[in-house]
Amino acid sequence: MRPLFIRALAILVYTAMVEALIATPDIAVNSTLMFAGPAPQPWTGLKSNTSTNPSTTSYTSGGASRLAFYVPTWSTNPAWLTFYKSLVMIGIPTLVTTNITEAIKHPVVLAYEAFTGTVSAADATSWTNYVSGGNTLITTTMTTTNAQMRALFGITSSTTNSAVREVIMLQNVASSPDSVYMSQFDQTDTRDSQIPLWGTLVNQSFPTVGYSSTNTSVVALGKYALHATPTATEATFLSITLNKGSNNGQAIAFGLDIGKYIGLSQGNNTWGIPRGYAASYEPGYDSFLRLIKSIYANSKGYITVWPVPSNMGVHFVWSYDIDASDSWAGAVTVTQSLAKLGGVGTINWQTKLSKDAYDINFFTEYYGNISIVEAYGFMELASHSVSHSINLDKF
Ligand SMILES: *[C@@H]1O[C@H](CO)[C@@H](O)[C@H](O)[C@H]1NC(C)=O
Ligand SMILES: *[C@@H]1O[C@H](CO)[C@@H](O)[C@H](O)[C@H]1NC(C)=O
Ligand SMILES: *[C@@H]1O[C@H](CO)[C@@H](O)[C@H](O)[C@H]1NC(C)=O
Ligand SMILES: *[C@@H]1O[C@H](CO)[C@@H](O)[C@H](O)[C@H]1NC(C)=O
Ligand SMILES: *[C@@H]1O[C@H](CO)[C@@H](O)[C@H](O)[C@H]1NC(C)=O
Ligand SMILES: *[C@@H]1O[C@H](CO)[C@@H](O)[C@H](O)[C@H]1NC(C)=O
Ligand SMILES: *[C@@H]1O[C@H](CO)[C@@H](O)[C@H](O)[C@H]1NC(C)=O
Repeated sequence: MRPLFIRALAILVYTAMVEALIATPDIAVNSTLMFAGPAPQPWTGLKSNTSTNPSTTSYTSGGASRLAFYVPTWSTNPAWLTFYKSLVMIGIPTLVTTNITEAIKHPVVLAYEAFTGTVSAADATSWTNYVSGGNTLITTTMTTTNAQMRALFGITSSTTNSAVREVIMLQNVASSPDSVYMSQFDQTDTRDSQIPLWGTLVNQSFPTVGYSSTNTSVVALGKYALHATPTATEATFLSITLNKGSNNGQAIAFGLDIGKYIGLSQGNNTWGIPRGYAASYEPGYDSFLRLIKSIYANSKGYITVWPVPSNMGVHFVWSYDIDASDSWAGAVTVTQSLAKLGGVGTINWQTKLSKDAYDINFFTEYYGNISIVEAYGFMELASHSVSHSINLDKF
């Protein structure tokens, strides 16, 4: 069973409510009502508070084997918290720091939005020595013009080209040493090998930068495809670069702010970035996290506890929500799969039984598929009905 499928279901629940209304023509939609209330603030993160210095949080503790999440620009990048929480949830032991001297004690540093402006000569030298010492430096939105930093990442120039990009195409060249990271992405399944950037509901793509490189040691882990030609790789500009130097040290640059991407693609469902909302596999931002986890897990000094220690039993909780018309048939598929595996689960139906600040009632009927599920006799049937308030913060 694919644990990612369970994550995907959880992700889909986020977007399903709004998209179900949009995707289902037989339901009356009042978009004024639907998008009423305060604008969502996805990338401000969980319990976000831009005045919280990460150094004052409990996320700073842990040993030197952890991935160091270095976030000197925390005050202007509140999505650091979203990103940090996501790294922890995918199983990467992570420590947050704003102090470069602390960061370089760790074999892998994720320098989040750290090289977007001026980088001091002292810091550039520290990072160069860090990588040539056999360590791994990862960053997002590498746009600094500092020549030493550019040489370290092997990037000649970076360009913002955010209006027109469709997907990131993850690359896997089997003969390349970085295939150890990339072979996990199924190149025959575009949902797995391509990360969506295009917001279908806003007709624009998530902001990205593209990297050009003349250093032949640079490997493209990711390329882009433009919205106009979604199946062809964009020439010149790369989306994820890896530059390996001496002692296996490496510098890896992602061409976007992954923290914001996580918040926007899953938190602001008015953008419409996910390619499916129900009954389909949509790994979305998990692909970034899987890639970073693989880089970390192949680094020196990697220590972790696997989610399921050897020889231990495991319990799966199957919970399936019906939020969209496609999900009715999926409820039957899930039940049939569980019957084969000898599992049990819960189907949450009756999507909306009471009108609220955002939505009218919908999917309160349609008994056909539920009767099929019920006839199997082992599934729990529960109500999914929820009520949204625009005054949640005042409760
Ligand atoms: C949609 O809701 C808004 C806000 O309640 C209301 O002013 C408007 O008349 C509604 N539109 C329709 C078509 O019902
Ligand atoms: C969420 O997306 C909508 C566009 O549909 C935009 O108006 C709003 O500003 C976005 N929220 C944030 C915090 O970016
Ligand atoms: C954010 O944190 C600061 C410092 O702890 C605190 O004074 C402020 O009230 C917090 N703001 C919000 C909106 O919670
Ligand atoms: C950064 O960490 C180093 C080493 O632990 C320490 O000596 C220094 O005081 C720290 N700097 C700041 C600004 O906290
Ligand atoms: C996006 O573009 C499509 C096709 O041109 C159009 O039908 C749709 O109304 C546009 N949506 C927005 C939010 O601009
Ligand atoms: C390319 O990058 C590698 C690794 O940092 C470095 O050793 C090499 O000198 C660079 N080549 C050029 C032409 O800059
Ligand atoms: C099950 O749901 C699908 C839509 O997902 C619908 O087309 C089909 O008619 C339903 N089957 C029954 C028996 O109601």
